Amino acid sequence: MKHFITSLFVLLLLLSSSSCIEKVFAKDSSIGIDDNKALSINDKVNALLLKMTLEEKIGQMNQYNGFWDLTGPTPKDGDAAKKYDHLKKGYVGSMLNVRGVKEVMSVQKIAVEETRLGIPLIIGFDVIHGYKTISPIPLAESASWDLEAIKMSAHVAAEESAAAGINWTFAPMVDISRDARWGRVMEGAGEDPYLGSKIGVARVEGFQGDDLSAYNTIAACAKHFAGYGFAEAGRDYNTVDVGTSTLNNIIFPPFRAANEAGVKTFMNSFNELNGVPATGDKYLQRDILKGEWGFEGFVVSDWGSITEMIAHGHAKDGTQAAEIAIKAGSDMDMESYLYVEELAKLVKDGKVDEELINDAARRILTVKFELGLFDDPYKYLDEAREKEFTGQQKYHDAVLDMAKKSIVLLKNENNLLPLKKDGQKIAVIGALANDNTSPLGSWRIAADDSTAVTVLEGLKAYSGNQITYAKGADVTIGETKFVTELKINTTDKSGFPEAISEAEKADVVIMVLGEHGLQSGEGRSRTELDLPGVQQDLLEAVYKVNKNIVLVLNNGRPLTITWADENIPAIVEAWHLGTQSGNAIAQVLYGDYNPSGKLPMTFPRRVGQVPLYYNYKSTGRPVLPAPDIVFWSHYQDEENGALYPFGHGLSYTSFEYSDLVVDIKSSKEVVVSFNLKNTGKVKGKEVVQLYIQDLYASVTRPVKELKGFELVELEPNQSKNISMTLTDKELGFYDNQGNFIFESGDFKIFVGGSSKTLLEKKIELE
Ligand code: NOJ
Repeated sequence: MKHFITSLFVLLLLLSSSSCIEKVFAKDSSIGIDDNKALSINDKVNALLLKMTLEEKIGQMNQYNGFWDLTGPTPKDGDAAKKYDHLKKGYVGSMLNVRGVKEVMSVQKIAVEETRLGIPLIIGFDVIHGYKTISPIPLAESASWDLEAIKMSAHVAAEESAAAGINWTFAPMVDISRDARWGRVMEGAGEDPYLGSKIGVARVEGFQGDDLSAYNTIAACAKHFAGYGFAEAGRDYNTVDVGTSTLNNIIFPPFRAANEAGVKTFMNSFNELNGVPATGDKYLQRDILKGEWGFEGFVVSDWGSITEMIAHGHAKDGTQAAEIAIKAGSDMDMESYLYVEELAKLVKDGKVDEELINDAARRILTVKFELGLFDDPYKYLDEAREKEFTGQQKYHDAVLDMAKKSIVLLKNENNLLPLKKDGQKIAVIGALANDNTSPLGSWRIAADDSTAVTVLEGLKAYSGNQITYAKGADVTIGETKFVTELKINTTDKSGFPEAISEAEKADVVIMVLGEHGLQSGEGRSRTELDLPGVQQDLLEAVYKVNKNIVLVLNNGRPLTITWADENIPAIVEAWHLGTQSGNAIAQVLYGDYNPSGKLPMTFPRRVGQVPLYYNYKSTGRPVLPAPDIVFWSHYQDEENGALYPFGHGLSYTSFEYSDLVVDIKSSKEVVVSFNLKNTGKVKGKEVVQLYIQDLYASVTRPVKELKGFELVELEPNQSKNISMTLTDKELGFYDNQGNFIFESGDFKIFVGGSSKTLLEKKIELE
């Protein structure tokens, strides 16, 4: 990603940053209001707007990529010159992919000291799962169901990135997705709107904290509004066609929750939704988000998504695309160059009301004031602080904690895990076991290569056992440091004999297989969900000589590991866990940490089942009663159900659920209580899950919906009575007119340790 260097302009930028041109930026004094501290941010923004020309206001709505990193298609030749010129004119309100105090200073100085009003830039960056110290990918973090830990992880990322001059992250991605073929499921919280809403809020709170102007907080961004996770056939950027019920009940809730949590920005999306590109969708942005939900922050387009409305077949040229986008409510143009080129003329020609420009600029300036950028535009630009706050030990502790909590024990036959700490011969097999870059995952632009702890390193830190290593097979062809280098069709089996020979000699084989960290993420859709390359063959070849296999998966999406589930005794889902990956995996394998993660996404048995999700609708022919096996909703060649359902995850101990009591206080207050007992031999944590089914409704409801969860830690033999309350908020739903309603009638209540719940009770609510 670092390959785009326009060295001449880099040089110019750095030179200009070191020149000491004393200019007054648009701090309170320059807008004549510094003596009146009582003025609200709103008043200050209005005063500033009065001083701005139309072009300067539009400039605030223009966001350029920096000169160093890229997270979208390569810009055209000459773009760098244009950006530099626009920066100096005050026609740039924000930049992305500029990072580190030095780089940020070089552009901020131009904005502050060389433009007429000196309005500071807001610096955006994809701080998705950590900045330099990398935490698990968001899907992995979501598997912890631990909102406090997730909030802490976002806070750590905010603190480290803010010290590097970043003001604003393009996270959290709160897109719900049911299709593991879509590579970006790694960036979200999975398939469930309830869990996704809670996690989205935790992330927003972690990034933004209580005070946006503090040195260790950054503005968050709920993205991608809306429907991006429902790309047809899981192909990124593809068409989205969903009905009102899915839109209101599945796609919208995490966005609504993020707004209620005070998220400062939204990003719209690349996809069209029901025939209209989201970027140009007035219904989404003006009617719903800014209208009905009262969102007061600003909306940024996605990279080039305004100009992409031409390719969508929605706008005939850039002029029309800009007009549609601003009218629809997109406040800031990321890398389309269209607002800065087209909007002023559109206003002068009377096609766009200047009030729309004022409103967008007002929203953007407000966030800049809230960040404290007008008090001191260089407040986040202190090299000493950057040094002090980069890679702190407490960040490593936090991401290690998060990584352990993210691991899901999928299977553990005959208690093969945890491993004995000494006296064993362990063969570690798989290229991913020895890869110190792949665990950093997909969004790791600021992290240095080769900075993750490998599984091999993590295991070796536990002395006592004799550990050997054989690669067996590569996951990708050649070294993969950047996504553009990703080549996945490996056929080379030359490493098999060595792996087989090591396996033969071992008591236990640990096979680390799955996807390279860059194999999931943006633009990385797949049509197969199996182990890429020859890894399945490797697994089967090793299995022939040693059945004592612990399969450790590294992946950014659910995989179809049906053969492994049938044959391999222990399977550990370890995702892409970030900087501390190997340490976290070792601690779990050796039982120093008892796994408690639960899947935030269904694992299908075969790719042909997707989209597969636990909260499906019944259909009119839901069951398959023998002997009539034809006319029911089923497949000829596979069962309907999941390999591992949503919410599934084992522990080194066992839990027993009993004594479900449902106390109907009123139709708006139902108290569900039950008993949880640790029936195993070690202390463990269980994510207890509460589901409902609204049995008959004017708009049909899913067979199960998650409506509550809690993390409960118990000593062996310890029991706890747990009680959770359902209100009309959990029992109601959105009808097809978008109204939230509660309908009385029959409900089922379920509790248990996964969406295949254990206890249930039917109730009637009036
Ligand atoms: C495109 C992605 O869709 C978006 O999520 C990201 O924030 C931007 N690129 C900026 O990198």
